[in-house]
Amino acid sequence: MSEKPVAAKAEKLTAVKGMNDILPPDSARWEWLEDKVRSLMGLYAYRNIRTPIVESTALFVRGTGETTDIVEKEMYSFEDKLNGEPLTLRPENTPGVVRAAIEHNLTYDGGKRLYYMGPMFRHERPQRGRYRQFYQLGAEALGFAGPEVDVELMLLVHQLFANLGLRNVRVELNSLGVSAERQAHRAALITYFSQHLEQLDAEAQRRLHSNPLRILDTKNPAMQALVQGAPQLLNYLGDASLKHFDTVKTLLTACGVNWTVNPRLVRGLDYYSHTVFEFITDELGAQGALCGGGRYDGLFELLGGRPTPAVGWGMGLERVLELIKEQGRVEAAPTPDVYAVIPDASALPITLQTLQILRAAGVKVQMHAGLADSPGSMKSQFKKADGSGANYALIFGKDELTQNAVTVKALRDGIGAQSSRSLADIAAWAPTLQSRT
Ligand code: HAM
Repeated sequence: MSEKPVAAKAEKLTAVKGMNDILPPDSARWEWLEDKVRSLMGLYAYRNIRTPIVESTALFVRGTGETTDIVEKEMYSFEDKLNGEPLTLRPENTPGVVRAAIEHNLTYDGGKRLYYMGPMFRHERPQRGRYRQFYQLGAEALGFAGPEVDVELMLLVHQLFANLGLRNVRVELNSLGVSAERQAHRAALITYFSQHLEQLDAEAQRRLHSNPLRILDTKNPAMQALVQGAPQLLNYLGDASLKHFDTVKTLLTACGVNWTVNPRLVRGLDYYSHTVFEFITDELGAQGALCGGGRYDGLFELLGGRPTPAVGWGMGLERVLELIKEQGRVEAAPTPDVYAVIPDASALPITLQTLQILRAAGVKVQMHAGLADSPGSMKSQFKKADGSGANYALIFGKDELTQNAVTVKALRDGIGAQSSRSLADIAAWAPTLQSRT
């Protein structure tokens, strides 16, 4: 029985703009993707880490960078009602993982390979592939300095995309060197942009001295020519940085990964050093970055930890699923093996018991629900059985039950064929109901 409606109709509430419900059958695609991710992470020996969605605001201000777009304009920040502590819904999870690693001394006995999947929050202008709550898969290798780990992480992405059947994804690389090299490049950038002040938009002028590297990220079409002509960090790299970068490129090639160097790839976060990379598609319009990452050897120290080299990436799962759809791959929606048709409520106890036994034997079962609303309507039950996608209807009819049996009716292959099955030896026939996929 449903409750009586209240006198005045309550106003409908909707999801917050830019934050999406993920509903069946679409949610099955998410589960499918998550399963693929988990098994691949196992093959590369990456282990799951789960950190809180809410962190101290200071973590991102210091970690992600005070003058990044994320920290300047995109964070969902608020004060704890009781003690006024500034808190933020995580816009990304690299600082959270590093904080946890420092807090729990995770790298005390050597490097750790970690991955996570979960929601991130950025107050951006919602559009296709850009949401305010979005799901990121991330992998972080903590405590490893060698370029082979940068490559391992990129191979992980490459393999995942291959396993998902994705095509036409390109890999762009760059190196941001070490701090002293970035400082020299920064000075050159300031000199260069200062000579063209009249061409800088207001945002670029504001960033000229605080974070000139971010000017290279500009989306302003009027500034593209200026940015193209700006000094390139690659020309400021010393021998050690060049060697690291060369090894990354050589190993990627040896593993059959095609790459191009994009000297203007600087990434939108402040913690990077040495290798940075993005996996990009041209098939999703403006939001073509599927995955981005790089080395962040200085972040542990910045967050109060011991110097610890680290490298990782983050991947937008909505974008990956959209590209799979765009490229025409359709996964079959999950269906039950069996739909239980229940002509009469008196059969419910034996029906529920039997269905539990079938499920324990691995048969996926959907029970007809709604007997109270339309008792005895067999036609509508069969219609629902058919719509469920099940291969068989299991009919718990009165006559069969008096003989301790049920009727199995084929709904697809050999449609209409019926047979009686004894409830005394369910284990013997349960496997015949299981689909092979
Ligand atoms: P990011 O480039 O800011 O890096 O984000 C990584 C990926 O998340 C992007 O390439 C994109 O696919 C997805 N993404 C970002 N913003 C949105 C959005 N508003 N809507 C949908 N998808 C989005 C990071 O977050 C770093 N933590 C990556 C990293 C890990 N670097 C080292 N370790």
